[in-house]
Order: sequence, then structure tokens, then C-alpha cells
Amino acid sequence: MNSYRSDTYGEHVAEIYDRIHPGVLNTDDAVDTLSALACGGSVLELGVGTGRLAIPLAARGLTVHGIDSSEAMLNKLRSKPGGDAVTLFLQDFSNLQQSGKYRLVVVAADTLFMLPTQDDQVRCFNNVARHLTPDGLFVVEAFVPDQTAYASGGSLVVRRVSTSDVVLGAATHDRAGQLITGQQILIDNDGFHLAPGLLRYAWPSELDLMALLAGMRLRSRWGGWQQGTFSSASSRHVSVYERLR
Ligand SMILES: C[S@@+](CC[C@H](N)C(=O)[O-])C[C@H]1O[C@@H](n2cnc3c(N)ncnc32)[C@H](O)[C@@H]1O
Repeated sequence: MNSYRSDTYGEHVAEIYDRIHPGVLNTDDAVDTLSALACGGSVLELGVGTGRLAIPLAARGLTVHGIDSSEAMLNKLRSKPGGDAVTLFLQDFSNLQQSGKYRLVVVAADTLFMLPTQDDQVRCFNNVARHLTPDGLFVVEAFVPDQTAYASGGSLVVRRVSTSDVVLGAATHDRAGQLITGQQILIDNDGFHLAPGLLRYAWPSELDLMALLAGMRLRSRWGGWQQGTFSSASSRHVSVYERLR
């Protein structure tokens, strides 16, 4: 995708993000699980977006910091009730430069894959490890790659249909590069809204290796935020990493 930058997705999607995720992302169970894992400690969310997770976590009394590369997404977050309870940083999270340490660092909703190269993702794991307290946890929520979804080189999926709008996802796939180039498309009576995205995906086993390189290991892996069993039928995973002692 030409001239794609770390803020391209956020700057295009900010106006529609909160309209396209209901019914697509499981927010309530995510907040329950994350708040239990935080054990009252401080939380850092990478790619905090419009605060879908960060605002309810802060409302539970947790100290929550959020990083995002898109000013438009952060402005949406700031404008919401409770948004001022989240401390925000306009930053690329592959180059984490926080001064503190956190009990929980989370990167949800496939956001880790928005780092466009393996090197960026490895650097992210390394930086996260440096910013965890000794008992700290790193939580990654992402899809499990499914090559059959791109049998003809691309895909078009219907994510949601309602009486007022349709949400679609269109994508092309580069199997060698583990790259998906896509558009999220919202169609309503006002027309089309497009949000371009570039994802460099990784299998759970590759993420586990990145964690090991960074001095962390897998503590738990669930098939979703309800903490169900992860199996070969799982289309998503929630992986919890801890520091090697
Ligand atoms: C799919 S949204 C997820 C937002 C939020 N975490 C949620 O679960 O609803 C991804 C967010 O990550 C941000 N993002 C993408 N690449 C980034 C990067 N390299 N550094 C910081 N933020 C990034 C985007 O601007 C966007 O707000």
C-alpha cells in the first residue's frame, strides 16, 4: 500500500471506529479478563484507539496509560466521558519509551500485527519486557492466520449487517510476506467510508518465539476473552506472557 504510515489506519478510521466494532469485538469479557489479570496494578495499552478497553478499565479504578500513533483516535478517546482518566501518549508503540513499569501491558484486536515487519514485532516484545514489573504480564489478542480465507488471493467478508448500515472487510494476501492489505468498509445512507489497513500476521508459535527472545514465556492461551480452551478450531487467541524468572 503506497505511503502507508503507522497513523494511516487510525486517521482514516477514527470517525467510524466506534460504529464498526459493536457485534464484531467482545469488549465486556475483554475488560473483565484484563481487569482480573491486572490485579489492581497499572495497565499500559498499545494502540489504545478510541478507548474501547482503556476507558472501562480506568472506570474500575485501575491506572491506565495508552499509546497511539493517531491523533484523531486519541482525540476521540479524549472527547468521551471518562476519557480524561486515561493518560495518553502520541507515539509509535514499536519504540516504547515510557519511564514507568506496568503490571499489565495489552495489545488487543490484532493491533500487534499493525507493526509491518517481523523486526518491528520482535522489538515490540523486547520493549514490553523492559516495561513490565517482575510479576508483570503481556497480553496479546489476535486472529489465528487462516490461509484458506484467501484461496483466490483475496477475500471479501460481511462483518455486520444492520437496518442502517453494512460493515465489510476486503483484503488481498501476500503469503510469503505474511501480509494482508485491506480496507474496512462502512456503507450507510451517506455513502462509503473506507479505512485502509496493513497487517503483518504471525502464528501463535511465532509470537511465543518472539516472547522467548525477549525473556518471556507463555503462561496461558485462551480461544477468546471468555477464557475458553484454545484449539485448532479457534479463530482467535488471547495469549498471556510472563517474564522468565
Ligand atoms: C484496531 S485499533 C484497536 C484500538 C483499541 N485497542 C481497541 O481494541 O479497540 C488499532 C489502533 O492501533 C493504532 N496503531 C496502529 N499502529 C500503531 C503504531 N505503530 N503505534 C501506535 N499505535 C498504532 C491505530 O491508530 C489504532 O488506534
